[in-house]
Amino acid sequence: MKRISLTQYLVEEQRLHNSIPAELRLLIEVVARACKTISHAVSKGALGEVLGSAGSENVQGEVQKKLDVLSNEILLEANEWGGHLAAMASEEMETIHPIPNRYPKGEYMLLFDPLDGSSNIDVNVSIGTIFSVLKAPEGMKEPSEKDFLQPGVKQVAAGYAVYGPQTVLVLTTGDGVNCFTLDREMGSWVLTQRDMQIPAETKEYAINASNARHWYPPVKRYIDELQSGDTGPRGKNFNMRWIASMVADVHRILNRGGVFMYPADAREPDKPGKLRLMYEANPMAFIVEQAGGAATNGKQRILDIQPQKLHERVAVFLGSKSEVERVTGYHNQ
Ligand code: AHG
Ligand code: MN
Ligand code: MN
Repeated sequence: MKRISLTQYLVEEQRLHNSIPAELRLLIEVVARACKTISHAVSKGALGEVLGSAGSENVQGEVQKKLDVLSNEILLEANEWGGHLAAMASEEMETIHPIPNRYPKGEYMLLFDPLDGSSNIDVNVSIGTIFSVLKAPEGMKEPSEKDFLQPGVKQVAAGYAVYGPQTVLVLTTGDGVNCFTLDREMGSWVLTQRDMQIPAETKEYAINASNARHWYPPVKRYIDELQSGDTGPRGKNFNMRWIASMVADVHRILNRGGVFMYPADAREPDKPGKLRLMYEANPMAFIVEQAGGAATNGKQRILDIQPQKLHERVAVFLGSKSEVERVTGYHNQ
């Protein structure tokens, strides 16, 4: 089989569709290289002394793991000097990170969740990195938080890496979704799946069912119906999976279908959900739509939401189109 590297894929994509300018290609390659470094650190585990807590909290009041902090640093350092970015923002940093003055600035802005699935780090379960790329607004001088507050439809690229039994990188630039596998011996990303498509129908769902008593009626109704199986209104049996790393749950759904839900619930009625809009939900929604699936907050398309703040939270329903449409319909009734 002819091996196509990430670089070759990006160059050819530009030649064929004019969709990946040189600066964006550099950006994607730099992020991919950073993910390789993170993958290496993750795989060392206890031997690399990277497990455990960092002894600090992020802006969301969550305890930071050593690998959360390390992955954030790896992404920052890799992306500072290339001249392709104006600024970055991260789950692990309260405020945005403009490119320091000693480096040239570019027209893109990068957002990331450096390590998704933190609760799985120390127990050797799949975790990942999620990223989203926006263009700086016309005429922007000093980047500020408000320059980042663009709806997800404005993303020019998005992707994620999963550090699991295999390390993979899934990428979209708005022209379908492709998957690359890290060849650890060669140190290169190899194209292994072209044009990923989420099956429209599914018999699999993902939700943290320990929150069932807090769910609002539309979610309760939807899950009750799934759980009633072939004797219920759906007339078929459903299976459940919950990895607690969104990145790994989404990767499963991209490969064999399914619906992933992290709804708002009555635990914290003021919060619109747990997941963050700008660096978790938006990039995943972009990828899922590009693979023929759907993504809503229960009421509207995630990509259409106008963000009000950088660390805004959002309810998430994404995956196979027919299921996302059904559960969204229950909310809108
Ligand atoms: P992060 O590790 O970046 O904070 O994100 C974890 C998220 C998401 O990946 C996962 O689906 C969800 O939190 C799991 O939440 P529960 O522990 O409530 O199941
Ligand atoms: Mn996350
Ligand atoms: Mn994280």
